[in-house]
Amino acid sequence: MQVKRLGFLCVMLAVMVGMTCDVFGQDSEGEMCVPMGVITIKPPPEVTSQKSPVDFPHSRHFATDCKTCHHTWKGEEKIQGCQTSGCHDQASAPKTTESYLSYSDVSIKYYKYAYHEACIGCHKEIRAKNLQTAKSYQVLGEALPAAGPSGCIECHPK
Ligand code: HEC
Ligand code: HEC
Ligand code: HEC
Repeated sequence: MQVKRLGFLCVMLAVMVGMTCDVFGQDSEGEMCVPMGVITIKPPPEVTSQKSPVDFPHSRHFATDCKTCHHTWKGEEKIQGCQTSGCHDQASAPKTTESYLSYSDVSIKYYKYAYHEACIGCHKEIRAKNLQTAKSYQVLGEALPAAGPSGCIECHPK
């Protein structure tokens, strides 16, 4: 619940500063604005895509603390995109046999690993918890929480 409230607080803050937008990241005055709809996530320009871009329903995720995803955000400066220089901006795969549950600080700079770890990692974690709850034969007061997609075509339709 704590986390949920924090998320809403961020939204309220953003709304109070008057900043919502459909375009990425900035309004005309250069203030931070928060994209409320679907953000289409694409690879860096130098990548020849094998898969279609991913439609990410940003505000559907606002029950989660902003800082879970925007993990370098201190709460005052503008939030920057994942592929910002020096973050997850590496366009080609490092040679590694790591799995998305244990990428190193180095290999996670590869943009695809960063998205897959965050997106699929969280969705699968929720699914796994739900499975455990179901297996524990607890009498449930409410429905299990929705988990996001983890199958390829659910995120990449083509
Ligand atoms: C589940 C993960 C997640 C959560 C939670 C989340 N965001 Fe985002 N946000 C993203 C992703 C992914 C992008 C797209 C950026 C990219 O891929 O480069 C984004 C983009 C943004 C941008 C545009 C950044 C740019 O590119 O200039 C802003 C601003 C932003 N989010 C603010 C927020 C705020 C405020 C909250 C909390 C209310 C929040 N986000 C919660 C994942 C998340
Ligand atoms: C911290 C956990 C978390 C992270 C990180 C996360 N998600 Fe989700 N995602 C969820 C939850 C929870 C739901 C279910 C929300 C709901 O149905 O209200 C969801 C739902 C979705 C849905 C389905 C929405 C619908 O209409 O049913 C899509 C698509 C999605 N996420 C894509 C992404 C992508 C792409 C990323 C990475 C950029 C991502 N998610 C990162 C937790 C997360
Ligand atoms: C929860 C959403 C999600 C799921 C599930 C998912 N991906 Fe992705 N994937 C992304 C995001 C976000 C990106 C970064 C944006 C982009 O490159 O399109 C990405 C990038 C990629 C890329 C690099 C870009 C490209 O087009 O070549 C490949 C390849 C890829 N994914 C393959 C897969 C495969 C194979 C699966 C199933 C095992 C899968 N993805 C499952 C969200 C997802």
